Amino acid sequence: MKKNSRTAIFPVAGLGTRFLPITKVMPKEMLPIVDKPLIQYAIEEAKEAGIEEFILVTGKGKSIIEDHFDDAFELGTSLSKGRKINELRDVEGSTIGSGELFYTRQVKPLGLGHAIWCARRFVREQPFVVIAPDDLVLSTRGCLSQMMDVYDEVGGNLVAVENVPKNQTHKYGILDVTSDDGKIVGAKALIEKPLPAEAPSTLSIIGRYILHPEVFTYLESHEVGKGGEIQLTDAIAKTMDRVPFHGFRFKGERFDCGSKIGFLAANIAYALKRNDLGGNVREILKEKYNLG
Ligand code: G1P
Repeated sequence: MKKNSRTAIFPVAGLGTRFLPITKVMPKEMLPIVDKPLIQYAIEEAKEAGIEEFILVTGKGKSIIEDHFDDAFELGTSLSKGRKINELRDVEGSTIGSGELFYTRQVKPLGLGHAIWCARRFVREQPFVVIAPDDLVLSTRGCLSQMMDVYDEVGGNLVAVENVPKNQTHKYGILDVTSDDGKIVGAKALIEKPLPAEAPSTLSIIGRYILHPEVFTYLESHEVGKGGEIQLTDAIAKTMDRVPFHGFRFKGERFDCGSKIGFLAANIAYALKRNDLGGNVREILKEKYNLG
């Protein structure tokens, strides 16, 4: 059995330019899906998959994320005095214990590959996980837990993939597919954000990766790729001759919550699934908007 990773990196330094004006001061990772910020969903998915060390690569204006995961002593005291047990559980559930959460700054916005490189000193010689919090996956078993199962068999570099419409390939890392059994996909190359006409497939990387530390040898060189940025996709591609690569078709529905439409769709989907809200939401959609 291969040793699964216990360390996850969360790149949260992005400016959120697709979601202005709210992201002018509010980090996009703090946008709520119903009542929980995106970053908390990402951390919970990682916890479920056995992650014990959480590394946030942050930037200017992101310190509210640190506060969110901190102990809220006064609020906790007031809630327990008022016997607000559920609320207290929610507040305590979003606290991360001492020595488990780490922060490092991406001092310059040089791309996703550079953000991951910023966390290099936390990773050492073990495989590690990368989760992009704006990619939210609604599923029975967490996307990362599903990946961990497959990683046990294949090791190397493993990325979550899904098909996107042909006219969307310029937004994603795309696989040049060599084999596909419907669950695990082999590839001979990875192309970052190709135009539809140049894309070798429509199978795209989404924000979940289990990576071999070998990718750092490439990230170290700070080679610039698509869009003038240091790309994680390029680093993975450059190790393909030494480190096995696989794409994994996860079970679940993925929402791009860095876009307004993806965020709205996620809020509806998550609210509909909630026991305390689903019925009311369904009623509103039906009665007021004649939908569903
Ligand atoms: C990044 C990666 C891209 C990947 C995408 C998934 O792009 O560079 O390969 O497909 O995340 O969300 P970004 O969305 O940061 O531009």
